[in-house]
Amino acid sequence: MENSFPEHFINEVKERNEIVDVIASYVQLKSAGPSYKARCPFHNEKTPSFNVSRDKQIYKCFGCGEGGDVLNFIMKIENLEFIDAVKFLAERVNMPIETEHINKKEYDDNKRKQKYYEINKLAAQFFYSNLKFKGNPALDYLKNRGFSVKTISHFGLGYATGSWNLLIDHLANKGYTETDLELCGLIIKNKNNGYYDRFRNRVMFPIFDVRGNVVAFGGRVLDDALPKYLNSPETELFNKRKLLYNLNVARKHVVNDQIIVVEGYTDVISLYQLDIKNAVATLGTSFTKEHGQLLKRYCKEVIICFDGDAAGTSATLRGIDLLKEVELNLRIVLLPDKKDPDDYIKTYGKKSFEDLIKNAMTLIDYKIHLVKEKYNLNIPEEKIKIGKEIVKIIKEIDSSIEKEVYINKICKEIGISVEAINHELNGNKVIFKPNYDKKNSYSNKRNNNKYIKAVPIPDQKGHIIAERQLIKYMLTNPNRKEIILKSINISDFLLGEHQIIVEKLHQGNDIDLIKSSLRECKDVIDSIMAIEINHIDMTKALEQYVLNSKIYKLLYELNILQEKQKKISNNDNLRKEEVDSELLDISIKMMDINRELQKLRP
Ligand code: CTP
Ligand code: MN
Repeated sequence: MENSFPEHFINEVKERNEIVDVIASYVQLKSAGPSYKARCPFHNEKTPSFNVSRDKQIYKCFGCGEGGDVLNFIMKIENLEFIDAVKFLAERVNMPIETEHINKKEYDDNKRKQKYYEINKLAAQFFYSNLKFKGNPALDYLKNRGFSVKTISHFGLGYATGSWNLLIDHLANKGYTETDLELCGLIIKNKNNGYYDRFRNRVMFPIFDVRGNVVAFGGRVLDDALPKYLNSPETELFNKRKLLYNLNVARKHVVNDQIIVVEGYTDVISLYQLDIKNAVATLGTSFTKEHGQLLKRYCKEVIICFDGDAAGTSATLRGIDLLKEVELNLRIVLLPDKKDPDDYIKTYGKKSFEDLIKNAMTLIDYKIHLVKEKYNLNIPEEKIKIGKEIVKIIKEIDSSIEKEVYINKICKEIGISVEAINHELNGNKVIFKPNYDKKNSYSNKRNNNKYIKAVPIPDQKGHIIAERQLIKYMLTNPNRKEIILKSINISDFLLGEHQIIVEKLHQGNDIDLIKSSLRECKDVIDSIMAIEINHIDMTKALEQYVLNSKIYKLLYELNILQEKQKKISNNDNLRKEEVDSELLDISIKMMDINRELQKLRP
């Protein structure tokens, strides 16, 4: 079935679809010498680099590289497979698609679908024309909701009267069978095998597919009766999970590579009326993966703006993780006071709504927001829960930089220390925290010793052993001591006790003197003396030492950066952008250090 049209048919389709005319119906073309120019419909640009040549019957964008013939253009802009693009263009110039061109089943399917599109279109026109009747309540209803005549006509809104058979009669007169109308979801069979109109006493919202065919309807009551909306059932043309209301329009008005997703027909219409045309609505379903995949074809970022009530929030949440699979950027707008976009924009105006869109939360922000909503920060147990749940959320972030930025932000917001969050993040494994030898707590007691800085010591026993080997070597080989001491820095020893012992060694004290003058270090000296260094490779021990000191220095820098992070996060004199940019700088430095550390650590 892949290419079931014969070559000559395809060529004729191309010949009869003049490329300039076809493209002109999508973008505004300007004559430029032998060709035409426009702003490229496939990427965002300010100056036109999209060219169409009448002579060559091709188009080419010098900005994004997109190019080809009229079929390529239609495939790309209408998102169609090759075969469907051929059909699309054949229909455009009323070329009959003969049975021999495609296989029988496909031909029949196509014919039937065309008929159903036709039926739905006629039904929409019928509902629309009902608005003209004097005294019909729907037009007043729509006007009272603030929709202009222009808007009503743009969306093809209409009215289904109270009659049980007006639509059946109207369409039967046009030659359609009741079975066809039933398969389109417009009429319903009764017990006596008769039929009645599905939609009665309702304001009608035709639902268009992505190519602008009417495929279903939503009908709203004019009062507070229930159900508020009655929608067409699923049909061959209508799959709720895959359809987004107004996508046929929104895809041509994508702004900043964004499409806004709202819940209701009326939300879309209200926004459109204020010239926000890139909004689509789910049709009473939650946001599906299919919706995400569909939107990904037309934009890079989806802004979810559901109703600000509980139902809105949970619907938003359900869609969220599905979208991650689709790899679509997602941001969320929370509307205040249980408003929906329609109410909001009518109350606060367009500018305010646009600000909300601009400042939409990231997915992580949103999830954190939900956690914060769930618990009470003032209750310690709940605060712990918040911390734990937030850690789960942060774990989902791939980029370390982003992680850092969020950690800093959140810690400041909820008053949990960066260390605590990092600790939890690393599965409670202590990677970096003060870890003095408890038994030999000399360093704790003497923490004002000039060598004992308030710097955490990494939990790396091997490093400490290497230091001790080195010290023992110096203690037991006084003649080699000087050479070694020359190549090392006392302050780079990790443990305060070691630093003090080495200092004594420097001063020329021998082991007995050191022992007697450093009672506090007796245990440490004993364990140093107990170390086996008969087979110690001195070069290796020195290498290990150098490595230690490098690692130590990096950890020290890391520590300073963490302190800095804290200070910046808590500095209320800085503007938010300043804080973010400083924190980002620090995070990048921290990442570099961590990378260095990873290289050094075995
Ligand atoms: N919906 C539905 N069936 C219902 C209620 C709602 O299919 N019984 C769908 C409709 O697509 C509707 C959307 O869910 O547009 C959002 O519902 P809701 O917020 O209740 O309606 P609004 O679109 O805000 O309509 P209105 O402003 O007229 O109240
Ligand atoms: Mn609503």
